[in-house]
Amino acid sequence: MRSHLLLTVSLLGTTTAYTDIRHKRFMIKNIDPIVHPGLYKSHMHSFFGSDAVTKDLPTTAQLQQGCPSGENPNDLSVYWIPTLYYVRGENDYVEVNPGMFSTYYENIDKAEIPYPQDFFAVAGNASAKTQADANENFTGLTWWCENGPEDRQSRNRALMPRVTCSGNIQTILRFPDCVQPTNIKNYAYSANNGNRCPSNMKRIPQLRFSVRYNVRSLIPQGWNGTPPLKLACGNIGEGYCFHGDFINGWFDDAQKNLLKATSRNTWVRVDGARGQGKAGNGGCQTRDGDPNGGTSDYLKSLGMM
Ligand SMILES: *[C@@H]1O[C@H](CO)[C@@H](O)[C@H](O)[C@H]1NC(C)=O
Ligand SMILES: *[C@@H]1O[C@H](CO)[C@@H](O)[C@H](O)[C@H]1NC(C)=O
Repeated sequence: MRSHLLLTVSLLGTTTAYTDIRHKRFMIKNIDPIVHPGLYKSHMHSFFGSDAVTKDLPTTAQLQQGCPSGENPNDLSVYWIPTLYYVRGENDYVEVNPGMFSTYYENIDKAEIPYPQDFFAVAGNASAKTQADANENFTGLTWWCENGPEDRQSRNRALMPRVTCSGNIQTILRFPDCVQPTNIKNYAYSANNGNRCPSNMKRIPQLRFSVRYNVRSLIPQGWNGTPPLKLACGNIGEGYCFHGDFINGWFDDAQKNLLKATSRNTWVRVDGARGQGKAGNGGCQTRDGDPNGGTSDYLKSLGMM
């Protein structure tokens, strides 16, 4: 009886439905349509997903006119993160293009509603300077060496590794999983509210970014101590300011399929009218919809801020 109960409890605790989608980085630019709409004055961001994004905040319908850089033709969302640089020397910044950028949608079976039309959210704190600012308890933000060595016990977990990674350097970041349907700018983390959504909110799938950077090939000599890596938002070797932005571009029929996942599923593929969930983008070419606006040059971007 007792072991039966324990089994049930552990299944409830661990079995949740999720999916993942890989995306290529299609643009870097000094724009942020959520935080600085209409302006070319942001720190540098790397963009993934629908290429219909420009400096102006897009709607879901506008994103759906674009070409996705990801593998699911039903997901025209746009995602962005601060650009990571290898600081090779004085005023010498080399972009570190993530070898793998994955968006996980987790706890799908717990979601009460799909992402509302035009929903957008920001996760993390672009001005964070300390471990406390990183709010790991609900953002999950940490940096580590994907294949070791593991040094998180001897440093703040949102700093970058102080040892040379044998493979990729990886970071993760979780997004809010509750939204107020009548005011979609109001969103929150259930993990910051006793694992429940506030009473005026509904549960949505929880987005998590997972980014893997191949620093081994870019910095073969490695490092010992502070790594020569800098996010566009922060100081050398610090991962505190890592943040993520998401604007919903999912087609509704695919979101309906997404929400069919139950706790008996673990990984699910999210298909829709535009193809199966791993079908690729149908061969469209991503492009910059505003090629003459803004800059992708790090030093120029500093002058424009
Ligand atoms: C974000 O970081 C800044 C800078 O340290 C801090 O003042 C602010 O309280 C942080 N915001 C949140 C929501 O933690
Ligand atoms: C984070 O969670 C741990 C474990 O539940 C708790 O001890 C700690 O106080 C929390 N930290 C903050 C800043 O809430």
